Amino acid sequence: MDTVLGLGKTASPPTAASAMAQSGSRVRFVIRSTHDPLVEDGPNVIRNLSLSPKKISAVYVYDRLGSQLFECQCQTPEYYLRRAEAVLLKAYAGDIVELCGVLPIVELGAGTAEKTRIVLAEYAKRGVRCDYFPIDVDVETLTAAAYRLAQEYPQLFVHCLGGTYEECLAALPRDGQKRLFLFLGSSLGNMEWSEMDALLRQIFRHSAPGDYLLVGADLDKDPAVINRAYNDAAGFGPRSTLNMLMHLNWRYGGNFAMDQFAYQSAYDAVARRNEVRIESLIAQTVTLRALGSSISFGRSELIDAEVMWKFDPIELTQLLEKAGFSWVQEWIEPVYRYGIFLLRRQ
Ligand SMILES: C[S@@+](CC[C@H](N)C(=O)[O-])C[C@H]1O[C@@H](n2cnc3c(N)ncnc32)[C@H](O)[C@@H]1O
Repeated sequence: MDTVLGLGKTASPPTAASAMAQSGSRVRFVIRSTHDPLVEDGPNVIRNLSLSPKKISAVYVYDRLGSQLFECQCQTPEYYLRRAEAVLLKAYAGDIVELCGVLPIVELGAGTAEKTRIVLAEYAKRGVRCDYFPIDVDVETLTAAAYRLAQEYPQLFVHCLGGTYEECLAALPRDGQKRLFLFLGSSLGNMEWSEMDALLRQIFRHSAPGDYLLVGADLDKDPAVINRAYNDAAGFGPRSTLNMLMHLNWRYGGNFAMDQFAYQSAYDAVARRNEVRIESLIAQTVTLRALGSSISFGRSELIDAEVMWKFDPIELTQLLEKAGFSWVQEWIEPVYRYGIFLLRRQ
């Protein structure tokens, strides 16, 4: 009987290697996996370090070590953003999938895609194929996450886009299918408002009427809670920011001495933004050999490093609507005041 049903043949169980190979075949690279998004960014680095005040683009937080430090920061008791967003997604991912349908997902700044799993698990329950287009400037972290997810979800096809938001959105294949764009982790709030506006308009241009956009955003709250989040006792937040200097060192042959710079974070409750800076502890000159440049820092001079806007839900919705997205629904986590906002492309 077993033989009739084909069960008599003892198929050997899949080995770890064959399982890997099978899941690996569901990962592809829309942009070459060896592409280095910052390969031509040197002139911008020098331009930013020539401003007054000096600046380092936040994109330098995220090399492999920076992404690992960010992940550690997300696990600290003080950093509520990851947990609050996960709580919302766990509670409402089912509703979101009911509202939008099982659409291909395009995710901006996917990172390790920890919370994306919550949405993918909803898709998996429905047992249908899912196409996932993660975008991230940290190509190594993106690639590792892609293979992990493909192993975990047999219905998942991952189309990796390693690069900046702008170049990846422009490289997105257009196949006429409706899509769900995800922008989680309050990453939108790491930009200036003019940059948010420009990026949202770019998402608009590279999406189609009826596509959905789900944005995770941290909201204005007690400054003490925000200050604790960016000054965790274990020091992962500070280390991830200071890693920008290490990143400049390896990428551009720099000689930033890590013990001669310090981390500063302060919440401006009027502007509703957290401002992270790097302070030069002494007067010093740093050389970026590969860029043929030396930069002098004064004692106590501050370098602008990162911003984290804490949104008012109405203002955020206005910004999204101005860029061409209509409000569908929002869910707000009441303890830490963190929101996810679902919009539909007009
Ligand atoms: C704040 S982390 C959020 C990661 C993840 N979405 C989460 O919610 O935990 C921002 C992510 O965006 C990526 N990123 C930052 N700036 C970027 C840019 N200009 N283009 C593409 N990816 C970027 C980083 O590498 C990082 O993985």
